[in-house]
Amino acid sequence: MTRVIARACANIALLKYWGKFSRSGNLPATPSISLCLDKLSTTTTVSSIPGNEDLFHINGKKISGESLDRLRDFLDLWRRKRLVSGAFRVDSVNRFPTASGLASSSSGYAALCLALAAHSRKRLKFNELVTLARIGSGSAARSIVGGMAAMTAGKGSRVLGLASAADIPWGMVIALVNARPKTISSREGMKLSAISSSYYRNWLLCGRRQFKEMLAAIRIFDLTKTGEIMEGNTLAMHACMLTTAPPLIYWEPATINLIKACREWRRGNLETYFTIDAGPHVAFLARLSDLESVKARAKKIEGVTGVISCKAGGPAEVISCS
Ligand code: PMV
Repeated sequence: MTRVIARACANIALLKYWGKFSRSGNLPATPSISLCLDKLSTTTTVSSIPGNEDLFHINGKKISGESLDRLRDFLDLWRRKRLVSGAFRVDSVNRFPTASGLASSSSGYAALCLALAAHSRKRLKFNELVTLARIGSGSAARSIVGGMAAMTAGKGSRVLGLASAADIPWGMVIALVNARPKTISSREGMKLSAISSSYYRNWLLCGRRQFKEMLAAIRIFDLTKTGEIMEGNTLAMHACMLTTAPPLIYWEPATINLIKACREWRRGNLETYFTIDAGPHVAFLARLSDLESVKARAKKIEGVTGVISCKAGGPAEVISCS
């Protein structure tokens, strides 16, 4: 095999992973639940190349710095485990803004894992693949399965598929807010929260309790309950981020405009709920039949630079091998 193309959808967490149980194995300290989104996809081409230096391009640009070191370490891990050998050229193309809090690492590492697995001479089991994806980026493990997925916390962290894309009656509208690449990555940010935020302990307790509650709500696709827990969880994570040293302030004025608008829309009987990752954008969860209304309203909010309406996305897949 010399060239493999794989694709994965990014996922947005309804219940967030923020904090590590242990750095080795990149094990999460909080359980999480996510929805993969069909319009936020990454297509990654992995080609074997001569020599011993890997090359990485994201959206046609050669990458450098921290992202490059992380990707190199990741390929070294696959080589150390003797899953692949030799050097690779990796070309990753995102259909959405990169590294701005829009979960590009979830789809990026999931697509990369599938492509490397196809290059590998060994047949990887689901759990091995998910573990490798999680080492690349915690949220990537959830993009491997697609649809709605859960990732448990701690030593025996597992990924479970909760619902496949075709069965999910909800979608998300992403309202984009002036997206500049972030200065502190999620990986770095959560390390800082654990050592400095006085809310960190409470955040961990809150995540554990909300995980059980959200699983029960999703089982019967109860949007009201799921949405209420999701908003509470988002605000708890941002409270933890804000009280980190240095403070992790990902919001922009438009982020707050969108939170307020969401509550107003609900009062007017448009049932939708907000969530925000480590960035300024706001994602709204709603029934499929309400996505167009949410999109039309979000577009009009001051400071919004674009809106993307998404249905649930499927699992990561290999598109071609040659
Ligand atoms: O997987 P990472 O290292 O990009 O961290 C993800 C962190 C959040 O997006 C804020 C929450 C989540 O569970 O996706």
